[in-house]
Amino acid sequence: MSASIRRLGILTGGGDAPGLNAVIRAVVKAATRGGLECVGLEDGFDGLICPTHARVLTLRDLPGILRLGGTILGTTNRGNPLGKRSDTIEADAYIARGIEQFHHLRLDALIVIGGDGTLAIAHEFHKRGLPLVGVPKTIDNDIVETARSFGFDSAVSCATEAIDRLHATADAHHRIMVVEVMGRYTGWIGLHAGIAGGADAVLIPEIPFCLQRVAGHIAERERCGARFSIVVVSEGACPAGGTRTVAVAASAAREEKLGGIGERVSAELQKLTGKESRCDVLGHLQRGGSPTSDDRVLASRFGAFAVELVGRKEFGVMTAFRPPDVVAVPLDHVVGRTHPVPLDSDLVRTARAIGICLGD
Ligand code: F6P
Repeated sequence: MSASIRRLGILTGGGDAPGLNAVIRAVVKAATRGGLECVGLEDGFDGLICPTHARVLTLRDLPGILRLGGTILGTTNRGNPLGKRSDTIEADAYIARGIEQFHHLRLDALIVIGGDGTLAIAHEFHKRGLPLVGVPKTIDNDIVETARSFGFDSAVSCATEAIDRLHATADAHHRIMVVEVMGRYTGWIGLHAGIAGGADAVLIPEIPFCLQRVAGHIAERERCGARFSIVVVSEGACPAGGTRTVAVAASAAREEKLGGIGERVSAELQKLTGKESRCDVLGHLQRGGSPTSDDRVLASRFGAFAVELVGRKEFGVMTAFRPPDVVAVPLDHVVGRTHPVPLDSDLVRTARAIGICLGD
């Protein structure tokens, strides 16, 4: 480890995702083995701005956290503290304050674990000289340049288990069961869980849907003897020519909160098919709980590699999964972009090939 890097800060920002603690554990273990001291900054970037939110992390903080959901460092999901623009006086003052505290805490480098919003803030700090490495986190799997973010596999497992359970009750009552899953503006969770759980229709944001098509698919299933149907709806899905269903509109402090499309789809399908329909919204159940073994491994690989990058003084980058490797990609290739499900992907073709109606 480079002699000039002795103290390493670490923070977790944005919505929590299973595997955050596995990254923290890997960072603290790898850093300690390399002779570095780790400082945990609590509640996202608040921990950098406010010095009372910082504490030294040692091996003693780690037992049991590998399998723990959430984050032992806490997080915030209040939107971007820099506001919509990063070149305002307020944003400059925020960054200047963060950099001042970084030096006050005698940190030499920072590891920032977060989704697109947190990584965008990290990028602004890096552009103003703060040496940092980003680690991608989100259950939505919508970060570019990485095939997978940790948290995604755990969310898909949770949604798949729910779909498995709903099959039994849908079958017993000959109902349509609509399952609303998270994913924001992408359908990765919906499509993966829909395929894994054997859904009959999956509606994702990337493919505007027509409910007459879905109703036709359900009617066709009935003609073939099926007495129930399972419809997975991603929270960001919207009807062709329509708009997304927003539960809480965006404000200065927060991004918009999606939600409600499942109920709309359920009510409409009941009208169109004459079959009874129920909707279940999985919500934050998909984010809580223990990470799957895949997420634990990916999170550990990201954490260990982030420390390696710090040791090499390779800053302004994000760890990324390019199977079979974990690599570094520049943050400016990541920030401001999203990673939708490609319409010509094998995943979409697989869904169609096995008879899943995608609503188009
Ligand atoms: O980005 C992760 C995510 O869980 C999305 O899937 C969802 O739209 C959003 O966060 C919910 O955010 P909050 O926990 O702030 O309601």
